[in-house]
Amino acid sequence: MPTGLFLTFEGIDGSGKSTQARRLAEGLRALGHDVVLTREPGGSDGAEEIRTLLVSGDPSRWSPETEILLFTAARRDHLEKVIEPALNDGKIVISDRFADSTRVYQGAARGDLVTKVDALHDLMIGREPDMTFLIDMDPSAALARGLARNSGEDRFEDFGLDFQERLHAGFLMLAEAHPDRFHVIDGDQDETTIADQVAALAAARIG
Ligand code: TMP
Repeated sequence: MPTGLFLTFEGIDGSGKSTQARRLAEGLRALGHDVVLTREPGGSDGAEEIRTLLVSGDPSRWSPETEILLFTAARRDHLEKVIEPALNDGKIVISDRFADSTRVYQGAARGDLVTKVDALHDLMIGREPDMTFLIDMDPSAALARGLARNSGEDRFEDFGLDFQERLHAGFLMLAEAHPDRFHVIDGDQDETTIADQVAALAAARIG
C-alpha cells in the first residue's frame, strides 16, 4: 500500500502558520503533487462541530482535562475520515496543527498534564507527522495579530500574554525533544522568506 507524507504546522496563536500551510499546499500543488490541506481542531465534519465547542465562549468553559478529551475526540474523527485515507492513497497531507498543539496547550501550559496527553494519544491516535514546521514568533506580536483578526474564536487568546509566553516556551521545548521531525522557522521574517524556507525543507524531504 502506498504511503503519503504527513506534514504539520504548529505555533502560538497569530504566528502566521495557517498562511504558511496554505502557501506550502499551493506550492506543492503547482509542482503536481496531490495535496490535502486540513486543520485542527476540525478538518472533518464531526471534528468541525467539536471545534465550535472548543474555540468560542468563556475561557473557563472547559477544564484542561475535558479539553484533552474533546481535542482527542476531534482528532480521532479527523484521522479516520481525512488523514489516514489520504495517506493511504499516497497523498501529501498538510495539517494546520495536530497532536503537538494538545501537548503544549493542554499538557504544558495549563497544568502538568503531559503524561495524560501522551497516554491518550498512544491509545487513540498513535500517529506522528513526518515533518513539523514550528513557526516561532514573539508572543506579544503574535497575540496582537491574533486578537486584531476579531475572528470570534478567541477563547485561547483570551487567556492573555502570560499564557502565550508559556505556549511559546512549550513549543520550543517540544521541538528540542524531537529534532528528527521539527523544523523551527523564524516567524518574525516576511511571509515570502518564511514560505521559501519551508518549501526548501519540504522539497528536500520529498526528493
Ligand atoms: P487555530 O486558531 O490554529 O485554528 O486553533 C484554534 C485554537 O485551539 C488555538 O487557540 C489553539 C487551540 N488548540 C488547543 O488548545 N489544543 C489543540 O490540540 C489544538 C489542535 C488547538
